Amino acid sequence: MEQWHKEAVVYQIYPKSYLDTNGDGIGDLRGIIDKLDYIKSLGVNTVWLSPCYPSPGDDNGYDISDYRGIAAEYGTLEEFKELLEGMHSRGIRLLMDLVVNHTSDEHEWFVESRKSRDNPYRDYYIWRDPVDGKEPNGWTAAFGGSAWEYDETTGQYYLHLFSKKQPDLNWENPKVRQEIADMINYWLDMGVDGFRCDVINNISKDFTRPYAGGNGPRLHEFLHELHVKALEPHKALTVGETWGLSPKQALDLTGEARGELTMTFQFEHLLLGRVGGDKFDPEPLDKKAFVDILAKWEEGLKEDSYPVLVMENHDQPRALSRFGDREKYPYESATMLAALLYGMRGVPFIYQGQELGLHDPTFRSLEEYRDIETLNAYAELKATGKWTDEELLAKMQYGSRDCGRVPMPWNNEKEGGFTTGTPWIKTQADPGYTVAEQENDPKSVLNFYRKLFELRKNIPALADGEFKLLWNEDDVSVYTRTAEGITVYVVCNFSAEKKDLPDCFPRGGAILLNNYDNEKEWLRPYQALWIKTK
Ligand code: GLC
Ligand code: CA
Repeated sequence: MEQWHKEAVVYQIYPKSYLDTNGDGIGDLRGIIDKLDYIKSLGVNTVWLSPCYPSPGDDNGYDISDYRGIAAEYGTLEEFKELLEGMHSRGIRLLMDLVVNHTSDEHEWFVESRKSRDNPYRDYYIWRDPVDGKEPNGWTAAFGGSAWEYDETTGQYYLHLFSKKQPDLNWENPKVRQEIADMINYWLDMGVDGFRCDVINNISKDFTRPYAGGNGPRLHEFLHELHVKALEPHKALTVGETWGLSPKQALDLTGEARGELTMTFQFEHLLLGRVGGDKFDPEPLDKKAFVDILAKWEEGLKEDSYPVLVMENHDQPRALSRFGDREKYPYESATMLAALLYGMRGVPFIYQGQELGLHDPTFRSLEEYRDIETLNAYAELKATGKWTDEELLAKMQYGSRDCGRVPMPWNNEKEGGFTTGTPWIKTQADPGYTVAEQENDPKSVLNFYRKLFELRKNIPALADGEFKLLWNEDDVSVYTRTAEGITVYVVCNFSAEKKDLPDCFPRGGAILLNNYDNEKEWLRPYQALWIKTK
């Protein structure tokens, strides 16, 4: 398997909200092309582009109607090639989003499939007869309601783990698997470097389970087949979006000898601050657990895999709002979180705007939301009659995916410099939180990230060194990274109070990174330090 992932630093772009260059209110590929020098300046060397394929947009592009094209609102295939070329000439690799658990219901395969029971595409999807005149089983969809939709034309139900406009593909059908392998080869032949694989552990279903979900019996077989037919010949990098795995299960998907995926995301720490992981049900953050979980994954994957370090993406509210102190210590807590997570062993993933330490935008009414998950959840919760509208809005503000989806704030001009037209979703550019302001401010989150990535690149202990958690008590944690006789110590104060430096942290050594100017009197609120010792 290709090893370049060990040096990768990935920047996720959500094209709809990056930069609009033609005034239609929707970000576009030209906007990304225009910002390539900015992207390069962050110190990242890989971009993951969220879907930019043709799509009716029921789930912002995660419902694809043509796997081989570019959505007209984003540009043309020619522009896509220009973007790819522009990245490669700057030493940046491109990962596309591979959404193959489901297609759009407007994909031609599904349009055909639903026509008749004997249509050649019928078995591209999962159709079942009604059971006692009802849904085939009790599975529910991620965006609410049953995971089964009845189709009048043929009198059967089709499965959709997400919205009913996202029918699940039938991976048991070898023709489907061949189509997907061919499509992957089409993009890799064009020069794309790999894929982020959307909800990939769902492709094999386990129908013996009472609840909807993946990790079915043929998951490994299906992935290995893709590996052999498409990924391995191109040395492509893959990172699987896999919710709810144990480290052992992740190893089984990514271990060197498996020939399946390169890496998987782990999101266990992102379930914290939510009662039972329910994003609309807040509870206080367990900071000790946050660090313990990260350490558990570092340990669990060390033998035979490489972790992914992530705290934001297009499905999550902003890390500063979730885990930091937005009111009193926005700079300190945003940079502490970065120093804590990205000092660890693994591939850093950051999401557009995270480099500015953005907080969640303020949504004043339901009309300001666009996300299907949010709108459905609001309706479902409202129907229970348990909450007032005000309480429901507070819930949405806490957990909505739209918190991370408002456009990049480039400057303090109209709409944050994102568009000259009417943006598809509200914009929010707060003073101090724009690229233009942070660019030349040495004490900005933006320049902290640049420094951090520079250090990771140059110090082998930070790249692939061994990880060891030494201390995690009373909101203070200390860990080390060691390689080639050099140890880097990381200490983080995960609180708004002053704390004593734990004894295990060395008093000497060279300061590599510090989110305060002080040389001593550690630890201040949300202070983070990286120190190098021989
Ligand atoms: C993944 C995507 C999310 C999407 C879902 C269905 O979780 O990240 O945005 O809604 O899959 O494709
Ligand atoms: Ca546009």
